[in-house]
Amino acid sequence: MKKKVFVALSSFARHGQAPVELLKKSGFEFVLNTSGKRLGSQEIIAMAVGADGIIAGLEVYDRAVLEGLPRLKCISRCGVGTDNIDLAAARIKGITVVNTPDVVVQPVAELTVGFVFDLLRSLTRQTEDMRSGGWVRHTGYLLSSKTVGVLGLGRIGRRVAELFKRLDAQVIGYDLQPDQAWADKAGVAVVSKEALLSRSHVLCVHVACADGAPAVVGAGELASMKKGAFLVNVSRGQAVDETALLDALKNNHLAGAALDVFAQEPYNGPLSQLPNVLLTPHVGSLTHESRAQMETEAVENLLKVLSGFSVV
Ligand code: DGY
Repeated sequence: MKKKVFVALSSFARHGQAPVELLKKSGFEFVLNTSGKRLGSQEIIAMAVGADGIIAGLEVYDRAVLEGLPRLKCISRCGVGTDNIDLAAARIKGITVVNTPDVVVQPVAELTVGFVFDLLRSLTRQTEDMRSGGWVRHTGYLLSSKTVGVLGLGRIGRRVAELFKRLDAQVIGYDLQPDQAWADKAGVAVVSKEALLSRSHVLCVHVACADGAPAVVGAGELASMKKGAFLVNVSRGQAVDETALLDALKNNHLAGAALDVFAQEPYNGPLSQLPNVLLTPHVGSLTHESRAQMETEAVENLLKVLSGFSVV
């Protein structure tokens, strides 16, 4: 019996045919998600029926979904985060979970840099203003006179820190397990979480989030930030308490924020009403170049696992 692969990504192969060609060459049967949207649990179970492997996006693979797919042997994430997968249940059911952690680094880091320049120079705000006939000139801030704090010095956080160093910002960072050798080489000062919050003019959040874990940046952390600071979150919506962030922006404790990720996606909440908040719909890794590479790697990883080669 032919092995079967379900591709849950709604935009699969939009950035090049290479991943589809790989699937065709594998000889495995494959089914694509043609709904054009992120799938719900019942839809995954229905569309992936009989699947040995899934190329997965951010849709949720909880215990019920995994139990609904008894043949499943591998979930290959096109991306880095696996917080949408019940890893404990996957382990018990013998499902291997693989991801593409390296490809996402540069696009997410570049989006972070873009957000920071936009916040410091009010690019989007002034564009919106001119579109409605205005000519209001906002005085910006120099990045090179600011301290950028990086919360979470994993692959992406380290890259962000390196890019900001090259742009002449002061860069400080915090991580539970910092790589001191890297920090010394990069010229990044590793500080306590308290110091990071109180010293940063711009706080960039790059943490991994376990399902159900409390926000890493909650009301207390926001209150400890410098008055007039900016916050950028491109990691996971759950990392920052959105209600507390809304308060901190409304009472002018923070000067602005840029968010690519939200606790509930798609997001349509009150943060979108604030003029000093930049919002993008979870596009951190979504560039033509990285997306094509991520999809190809996700297919390669899946094929390796289903053919019995270890990639973990
Ligand atoms: C990731 O890689 O987890 C990004 O959030 C996009 O999928």
